[in-house]
Amino acid sequence: MELEDLKKQLAEIEHQAKSLAAEVTHAEALRQVKARILGKKGTLGKLMGTIRDYAPEVRGQVGQALNAANKSVGRLFDECANRFREKESAADSARAGAFDPTLPGDREMPGNVHPVTAVQWEIERVFERLGFTVEAGPDMETEHYNFEALNIPATHPARDMQDTFWLANDRLLRTHTSPVQIRTMEKFGPPIRCIVPGRCFRYETIDASHENTFHQCEGLMIDKDISIANLIAVMRLLLREVFQRDVKIRLRPGYFPFVEPGFELDMSCLICGGDGCATCKRSGWIEILPCGMVHPNVLRFGGIDPHVFTGFAFGLGLTRLAMMKYGIHDIRVMNSGDLRALVHPARLAGPTITGTLPLVIHGAETSGDAPGG
Ligand code: PHE
Repeated sequence: MELEDLKKQLAEIEHQAKSLAAEVTHAEALRQVKARILGKKGTLGKLMGTIRDYAPEVRGQVGQALNAANKSVGRLFDECANRFREKESAADSARAGAFDPTLPGDREMPGNVHPVTAVQWEIERVFERLGFTVEAGPDMETEHYNFEALNIPATHPARDMQDTFWLANDRLLRTHTSPVQIRTMEKFGPPIRCIVPGRCFRYETIDASHENTFHQCEGLMIDKDISIANLIAVMRLLLREVFQRDVKIRLRPGYFPFVEPGFELDMSCLICGGDGCATCKRSGWIEILPCGMVHPNVLRFGGIDPHVFTGFAFGLGLTRLAMMKYGIHDIRVMNSGDLRALVHPARLAGPTITGTLPLVIHGAETSGDAPGG
């Protein structure tokens, strides 16, 4: 090859090396490009060996040209390699700088049920073993089931006790789970043992202790000779299971048109043991649920003869119970979607209860089995 041609070829190789070096993005690719040009069989590497083929008088010039090309291509690749090395060590030190062993790790948040659901399931387990069925009714109710059949006629002042969402179709969002008392009486007839956990709605201004959407759990037991003693026994058992210890309870008179007599059931304060503290407003008692003997008019509305059957009903505030059990102080947390509210049941829920619980009916100890019977 003429010297001139060689020089042209070398210029071409240098040009090619430059554009390849610019394209290369990582060390392994650079190694391959280098081999393709500088390797023994590479474009430039092959030419290096041809120096012996030239006549002695041009060998000097050929050598100079080859060495210059070799050097410049070598420098090109060295620069390229340095660039990669710098990048890598920058990334390394960024990684090293980002690691702070004092920071908490990325904790997994395991999924969990809502506190209200946790308490609901717990109560269902207790009552199922007493032979109670778990019933449900519609959130959207008629005036008849929500009020009238519960002994609250349209003109009765007791309607003011419950601020109601009225719907355009003459229906309303149920203000309590009590309408399902009537629905269950109509559906099954006596005897009845059921609970009704469910969502209720009231037209409330929302604050730490009021919500427009909350959960209750209705309870209803109807049979021959059901008395207040049965009510007290069942309530004491329920609270013992929920709070996992014996609790003292007391009844105070309370007014609800659908029970007679009606009561407010208090539980001895679990925080102070009854001595009086801020939680129980120094009284030693905490109001836990309203209850009473089913009013004869309500039995009649449900198609049951009040001269043959009697019963008790209670309205447990599920949301409130969940707040008490899990120490949640603000009701707004419950519907907020704040996932921290879901951490509670996992840590605090008591052990699962198994076996059949004794239930005193008609003075004899039976174990609840037949639904409603
Ligand atoms: N339904 C009543 C309320 O929501 C509670 C209640 C239920 C009272 C059953 C007595 C008996 O206020």
